[in-house]
Amino acid sequence: MELYGTQTVNEKGHLVIGGVDAVDIAHVYGTPVVVYDTKLFRKRAADFRQSFEKNGMKAQVAYASKAFSSIAIYELAAEEGLSLDVVSGGELFTAVKADFPRERIHFHGNNKSYMELNYAFDENIGCIVVDNFLELSMVKEIALTRKQNMNILLRVTPGIEAHTHEFITTGQEDSKFGFDLKNGQADEAFELAHDVPYLQLLGLHCHIGSQIFEADAFNHAAETLMEKMQVWKESHSFICTVLNLGGGFGIRYTEEDEPLEPSQYVEEMGKVVFDLAKRWNYPLPEIWIEPGRSLVGDAGTTLYTAGSEKEVPGVRTYVAVDGGMSDNIRPALYDAKYTAAIANKMLSPRDTTITIAGKCCESGDKLIVDAVVASVSEGDLVAIFCTGAYTYSMAGNYNRLPRPAVIFAEDGDHQLVIRRETYEDITRLDLSLHQKVRKESK
Ligand SMILES: Cc1ncc(COP(=O)(O)O)c(C=O)c1O
Repeated sequence: MELYGTQTVNEKGHLVIGGVDAVDIAHVYGTPVVVYDTKLFRKRAADFRQSFEKNGMKAQVAYASKAFSSIAIYELAAEEGLSLDVVSGGELFTAVKADFPRERIHFHGNNKSYMELNYAFDENIGCIVVDNFLELSMVKEIALTRKQNMNILLRVTPGIEAHTHEFITTGQEDSKFGFDLKNGQADEAFELAHDVPYLQLLGLHCHIGSQIFEADAFNHAAETLMEKMQVWKESHSFICTVLNLGGGFGIRYTEEDEPLEPSQYVEEMGKVVFDLAKRWNYPLPEIWIEPGRSLVGDAGTTLYTAGSEKEVPGVRTYVAVDGGMSDNIRPALYDAKYTAAIANKMLSPRDTTITIAGKCCESGDKLIVDAVVASVSEGDLVAIFCTGAYTYSMAGNYNRLPRPAVIFAEDGDHQLVIRRETYEDITRLDLSLHQKVRKESK
């Protein structure tokens, strides 16, 4: 069975994360609880950063914080020298609360509101990644009205779609994001953006998919964007100083997954950019990337308590836990696969196949179908691995289940970074029928 990051098993047969016994964590914080192995996060951040540094390349590694957004993770990202990718006013507000260095915040999103864009200007953030023509006109207007400089990138869709082991190249991409590179939209956006007072067009951005294992997909994207940059150099003597290749670096959820090391992706894409820049005498652009999952995915483990059990003879045995699709929607949403262990029985033989079900009123609320684990009884601690990305950040209150607590564990120490929701929290926005409120207060 694979353990991740600093995970070990102690003499009591308990899972240990960040030097802390998982059983103790459950006693202190209750379950469900998401435990982040922050040393693994730090290691990944350093691996990405150093792979660029080692090759003498200027770069920014921006944590794509949609994967898991909280004040503490932003503080950690800042400590590790990362930049930050936010996609909404809410994520930007969280970054401001964490006092994240504004010049390293990049703002994404396909429908940023006027209010959100003004907020980005208020905070004087590092860069807005402009996604569409409406946004471009709004950003222009705000910059001109405020007489305030703003760096921008144009997000383009290069017609490359990549998932896991495959990538396909299409004439144009069926995506709600970005300016299409092949049908002229990107050229039109460039014409509108490259010469506007107060707007500094730094370059291009693309994000080609998620959970990608093939460095070739990124190489191909780098080449496609560099080709366009070279066209604009020839036509307008315009030099892009930044090439942002997005996120999507894969992680190992199960043994079928075979991700590369961060350095492999980075070195290969760096080489493509370096070689093309040399061939075309193009000043070497800074490379920006935006890993989300690969920074937090396998650093997170969710601990649940096992509850009811139901055997369907000859079919399967369901073991229900005290959370489910409300704290991890990924299996129900896109059939995501995970592995599990019984965290208080790590030395027992893994001789039992169970389906780990959630407690939501939804038949599809199964976290893992046919998990192979040690024999499990009510009260045992069920650990589901690699739940650090797109779980808590996608969590909701379906069935009015409170969202779990989140803790950081490192070097035998632990701390609460998001407290468990209470029933009071869940009803805090509700108004009584008898209050007759007719207008939102500002
Ligand atoms: C623009 C952009 N950048 C980065 C990411 C992060 O991707 P991942 O978590 O797969 O690294 C995403 C994910 O959706 C994205 O849309």
